[in-house]
This record gives sequence, C-alpha cells and structure tokens, in this order.
Amino acid sequence: MSEQPLTIALSKGRILDDTLPLFAEAGIVPAEDIKKSRKLIFDTNHAHIKLVVIRATDVPTYVEYGAADMGVAGKDVLMEYNSNGFYEPLDLNIATCRLMTAALKGAKEPEGRIKVASKFVGLTKRYFAEQGRQADIIKLYGGMELAPIMGLADLIVDIVDTGNTLKANGLEARDLIAPISSRLVVGKAAMKIKHRQIQPIIDKLSEAVERRR
Ligand code: ATP
Ligand code: PRP
Repeated sequence: MSEQPLTIALSKGRILDDTLPLFAEAGIVPAEDIKKSRKLIFDTNHAHIKLVVIRATDVPTYVEYGAADMGVAGKDVLMEYNSNGFYEPLDLNIATCRLMTAALKGAKEPEGRIKVASKFVGLTKRYFAEQGRQADIIKLYGGMELAPIMGLADLIVDIVDTGNTLKANGLEARDLIAPISSRLVVGKAAMKIKHRQIQPIIDKLSEAVERRR
C-alpha cells in the first residue's frame, strides 16, 4: 500500500539549525541542502514526506489550517498563537531558552500601570492579566532591549538564553514566564486521517530526543 503524502512545516532560522540534525537522527533527511537553497519545499529520503521551510511564526497557521500536517515551532510562538487547533505531542528539547521579563538594571518598577514592550503581545497581555497587573503592551518587532533604555517601556518580555544580550545593554532578567523549547505540533485533522503515517514519525523523533538525554 502506498503511503499518503505528508508535509512537515519547519521553522527557518535558529530552530532549523537544531531541527535538521534531530530529524536526521530520526531518519528523515532532506534530498538537498536546505541551507543552500532558495526553495521553500523539499523532498526527503522518504517518498511520501515533504518539508516546507517557513517563518517560525507562520508554522502554527499552516498546521492549524491543515496546509501542513505537522510542524516544528518554539513554545514562545505557540503560546503567542494561542490556539487549540493542533496537538503538541512532543517536546523536541531543542532551541531551549527562557521567556522572561527584564528591566534596566536596578530600576524600580512603577507601582501603577506599567509599559511593557514585546513582540509577544498576546501572551504578554495574558501574563500581566493573570498577575493582576495593569499593563500597556507596546508591540515591537525586534531589539526589545532598546525599549527601556530609550524610555519607551518599563519592562520587556523577551527570550533569554545566555543573558549576554540583556547584560550588554544594561538590563537584567526579572521574572520567568515560561521555559521554552521547540515542539512538534500535529494538526487535528491530520492526526485522524494520517495517523498511520504520523505516529511512526512521532515515535522516531521521540526516540531520538530520548537518546540525547
Ligand atoms: P523571525 O526572524 O521569523 O522574526 P526570530 O528572529 O525570532 O524570528 P530566531 O531568532 O530564528 O527567529 O528564533 C526562533 C525561535 O528560536 C524563537 O521563537 C525561540 O523559540 C528560539 N530562540 C530565540 N532566541 C533564542 C536564543 N537566544 N537561544 C535559543 N533559542 C532561541
Ligand atoms: C534573541 C532574543 C534575545 C537574545 C537572547 O534574539 O530576542 O535578544 O536572542 O539570547 P542571549 O540571552 O543568549 O543573549 P535574536 O538573536 O533572535 O535576535 P532578534 O532580536 O532579531 O530576535
């Protein structure tokens, strides 16, 4: 019996660097060098499996709408997307970092309403609401560390890994919002219709993740 075609959406950039070796350990290898190509769709060593390489923030959208059957995305991106339109069966334990609040070193946080800059406006809004703190959320697209320096915001919500970026800009981490790693996501319809193809991929990736522990 021939296999049903299966499409996996990978986040390009930093996550891709960690995803490709893990997929190789799970036996899924692109037919050509993704890093050297301008293509967005790639065949693999499995005739029925294709990889698409897209912006990290677009991965949940492709999977939720069934355009891709599965995907790899950072937990930060999934928290921001905030949908129950897919399953999240596996923590791939790659691109690990922390989602944190940060402020200028030693700066006191204002008592009342605070200004918070982030590219994660949805999750930031929810986080401060859960904390019972009044916050104005300011959307930025990068370089969040600049916002407190320029007086645009009191706090930022951003990814912290080594802490070097915060330190280099005179900021310090404050509260941990969530530990972050990349996750395998599977569309709800795909999980039903293509379970026979999808489950072995989850199993192989899960074994690869376990071998690395
Ligand atoms: P885009 O270019 O699409 O706007 P981006 O610049 O955030 O996205 P990357 O820097 O490749 O893209 O980061 C993608 C993901 O990698 C993040 O969503 C997060 O899960 C993880 N990540 C970001 N920064 C770090 C870091 N310093 N260390 C480890 N993982 C990180
Ligand atoms: C990410 C994140 C922080 C930095 C944290 O930025 O937004 O700025 O990494 O890493 P560190 O704690 O090890 O310094 P990235 O390099 O993706 O650049 P960006 O601002 O363009 O997202």
